[in-house]
Amino acid sequence: MPDRFARREFLKMTTAATAGAALAGTMAARAADEKAEKTVRIGIIGTGGRGHGLMGVMLSMKGVQVPAVCDINPAALQAAKDSVVKAGQPEPAAYGDGPDAYKKLLARDDLDAVLTATPWDLHAPITVAAMKAGKYAASEVPCAITMQQCWDLVNTHEETGVPCMMLENWSYRRDNLAVLNMIRKGLFGRIVHCHCAHSHDCLDHWFYDKQGNKRWGGEYLIQRNCDQYPTHSLGPVLSWMDINCGDTYDHITSTASDPIGIYEHFKRKFGPDHPALKTQFKQGDIVT
Ligand SMILES: NC(=O)c1ccc[n+]([C@@H]2O[C@H](COP(=O)([O-])OP(=O)(O)OC[C@H]3O[C@@H](n4cnc5c(N)ncnc54)[C@H](O)[C@@H]3O)[C@@H](O)[C@H]2O)c1
Repeated sequence: MPDRFARREFLKMTTAATAGAALAGTMAARAADEKAEKTVRIGIIGTGGRGHGLMGVMLSMKGVQVPAVCDINPAALQAAKDSVVKAGQPEPAAYGDGPDAYKKLLARDDLDAVLTATPWDLHAPITVAAMKAGKYAASEVPCAITMQQCWDLVNTHEETGVPCMMLENWSYRRDNLAVLNMIRKGLFGRIVHCHCAHSHDCLDHWFYDKQGNKRWGGEYLIQRNCDQYPTHSLGPVLSWMDINCGDTYDHITSTASDPIGIYEHFKRKFGPDHPALKTQFKQGDIVT
């Protein structure tokens, strides 16, 4: 958003519950301004749980088309194709032959925007490639996992001028937007302190599955010790405190407890022989 006014207009406009809907809504509104009858065409890269869900939101919106989808898992790719057809749109082109298949989707000349909902390590590279291909680029959270990737996103946006958005949906929840509105109307006076948390234990359904098998996200618990999803808690608060639209973030400190609860979880649910109990987890239980 170029300035605070535009941001406020955007917030007023954004009534949909998800950031994916926000993207489609923003794109659709922009398209409507430019040419009333124009359709916004969005390609989806990564059509697993989240990508498929967001695609469903988009398919439910008038003026949004999904001409192309990409996933290296044939079942996820087929399910995405089926959903597009079920929504009454032509069968989308499908790209799934290897980890670089997304490059073929990006090379198409009939897409206005691309949404990426792959594993985390691919978010920044794909988003950078999308901007270079001239497509509005939207990435699921987190859109970068290293400082270098953050700079790659900033530098590419500045070089190409192509808009790029991280789909942090918690900032657009109705309750969080209501608080933002109240703050901006001055109901709480000057805000001097905010406290936030994202208390969501994803160990048994996202990092690992219900049967205790490691999903791709589980590797991050082994390799890193951090708040894996910091923007879910921080996103709304940063808006409330005008960070990056009037104020700035100077530094951050963080501490984590030992991963005692992670081991307890596997022991309690699967017994003392579960392989995760022999795994060295870097991730702590509580990150503050
Ligand atoms: N904002 C939210 O509230 C929210 C909620 C859930 C997930 N997410 C995010 O969405 C993203 C996806 O999570 P998910 O739960 O859908 O995971 P998922 O494993 O269900 O889906 C990821 C998909 O990416 C595909 N993929 C992997 N490598 C690929 C490649 N090279 N090219 C194309 N596709 C590839 C996989 O086959 C899989 O279908 C993650 O970044 C996650 O953090 C956000």
